[in-house]
Amino acid sequence: MPSPILTAITQRRSIREFTDQPVAAATLREIVQAGVWAPSGLNNQPWRFVIVTEAAIRSRLSEQTHYGHIVLAAPALIAVYLDRKTMYDELKDAQSAGACIQNMLLAAEGLGLGAVWLGQILKNKENVSRILGLNGDLELMAIIAIGHPSRRDQQSHRKPLAEFIVKEL
Ligand SMILES: Cc1cc2nc3c(=O)[nH]c(=O)nc-3n(C[C@H](O)[C@H](O)[C@H](O)COP(=O)(O)O)c2cc1C
Repeated sequence: MPSPILTAITQRRSIREFTDQPVAAATLREIVQAGVWAPSGLNNQPWRFVIVTEAAIRSRLSEQTHYGHIVLAAPALIAVYLDRKTMYDELKDAQSAGACIQNMLLAAEGLGLGAVWLGQILKNKENVSRILGLNGDLELMAIIAIGHPSRRDQQSHRKPLAEFIVKEL
């Protein structure tokens, strides 16, 4: 029997084009809820989120990345942060944030939405935090752009598994 989880993992694509249809606040919270069910070292749950739907703020954020057109097109953004006060290990907490972000991408897919992980904006993370009115305890990990996909024919590829498996002992 096909596994719905494996199907979601392989069928998910980064979605960068959206319709104008807004994403309901309750749906965005469901996506964040999926994020917080990610594993984290010591179960310290170091992630924090800022949910943005206001057009004026999205517009200001769009100026902070080369991918501003995606930020502008997406009706919703979720900025994912690590809380330095809750962190215990730089690497492991960043890994936890990655797991959290992937959970949210898969949740968006499962809810019939599309999303993309935006990392290039990290080069202006201080500006992003200023725009969002945050203090220095929070460190930006990524922004997820979310919306209703205007198309679903995106292609992606992965190299053959043999290139990744170093050894099978
Ligand atoms: C750490 C990280 C940073 C990324 N940053 C961006 C970004 O700034 N802009 C963008 O359009 N896509 C970004 N992506 C999405 C990747 O381009 C995408 O996942 C990759 O091309 C594979 O495509 P797929 O997600 O459709 O399988 C990022 C992905 C990751 C994991």
